[in-house]
Amino acid sequence: MTPAQHDAIEVIIAKRGGAALTDSQIDWVIDAYTRGVVADEQMSALAMAILLNGMTRPEIARWTAAMIASGERMAFDGLPLPTADKHSTGGVGDKITLPLAPLVAACGVAVPQLSGRGLGHTGGTLDKLESIPGWRATLSNDEMFAQLRDVGAVICAAGDGLAPADKKLYALRDVTGTVEAIPLIASSIMSKKIAEGTGSLVLDVKVGTGAFMKTLADAQELARTMVDLGTDAGVTTVALLTDMSTPLGLTAGNAIEVAESVEVLAGGGPADVVELTLALAREMLRGAGREHVDPADVLASGKAMDVWNAMIRAQGGDPVAALPVARESHVVAAPSSGVLTGLDAMAVGLAAWRLGAGRARKEDPVQAGAGVVWHARPGDTVTAGQPLLTLLTDDESRFERALASLDGGYDIAPTGTAFEPTPLLLDRIG
Ligand code: URA
Repeated sequence: MTPAQHDAIEVIIAKRGGAALTDSQIDWVIDAYTRGVVADEQMSALAMAILLNGMTRPEIARWTAAMIASGERMAFDGLPLPTADKHSTGGVGDKITLPLAPLVAACGVAVPQLSGRGLGHTGGTLDKLESIPGWRATLSNDEMFAQLRDVGAVICAAGDGLAPADKKLYALRDVTGTVEAIPLIASSIMSKKIAEGTGSLVLDVKVGTGAFMKTLADAQELARTMVDLGTDAGVTTVALLTDMSTPLGLTAGNAIEVAESVEVLAGGGPADVVELTLALAREMLRGAGREHVDPADVLASGKAMDVWNAMIRAQGGDPVAALPVARESHVVAAPSSGVLTGLDAMAVGLAAWRLGAGRARKEDPVQAGAGVVWHARPGDTVTAGQPLLTLLTDDESRFERALASLDGGYDIAPTGTAFEPTPLLLDRIG
């Protein structure tokens, strides 16, 4: 059915005045924006009005439905296995999808994981995987289905047909200061996840300096909004709220995060990465009705590594090939002895980005070997002069700005100072 006619100025003025938009206004504006009838400058004004004045729950639900209707819907009904997916709202050193997808598949649940690229200081799963020689991110729907059936897990780029309204709107928000609006983040994420057709969904909502949501209260509101949208659409949805004031693991970059993920699959890796991978795996298994399987046992058995190897090979990659290494490195030594009491996720994320691990514009290439390795985590004792961080890049001129972003990004307190770690898992909603 063709949406009723409205005009962009009427819709902008309504939201600017604090009114709730009608279903018909929402359907029209999303459809007209996707077709290019509503101009980018009009949609940016509307996005800013939404950021400033908010949206009611019914408006958010309708906005999400209109974004889903802007494109195709996928379905995995023909698969013999239940499906589960997870989505992170974005963080620093967040490589969890890499060990998680093959682990959950090894537990008997199919994982159709449509992922994105990094933008700004947050990393992107596809950029990380593209550092594996030969690996390709783009699959047809038929290839995706076949890989899910044969291997159990697929991590790939969302096709152009999935929620095209979100693709346009997300790019616009990124350059108009309108990313951090809860209604717009919730509808952006959930339109893609509902259109993707997963049976169950686990959301990893990040909280802290390195996340879009800086406070627990904002993260709880975002999580609640997304869980409601998923549940209303028939997708079993739960959210874990997890700390992003400290970056995850010991690496932020592309190839170096792949290497750390492979360590986890081999039974090692940093304790926080293992803890979060297992916590999210348990939630995904519960959502898919497989709560009797213990992912820790499956991880220890090596079966998740087998799925990883098969998953990488199925997409043209060589899982045993050497990963790219940055040409230049620079070590930051601990300036004093004592206890590392803080390592700021935003500072590390910005440094990795400036070293070339991320991009400033969507079209920019990323460096596979670039990033930051930290040699101590908050709570560890450090000695003056020991390596604290290693900065990696192909381009020496990048060190100066990366070092500037790390200025004030870590704290060392005198030896013996009591240290209270922030828990990784902060809340569960769903
Ligand atoms: N991830 C998305 O896909 N959309 C947002 O708006 C924020 C994070």
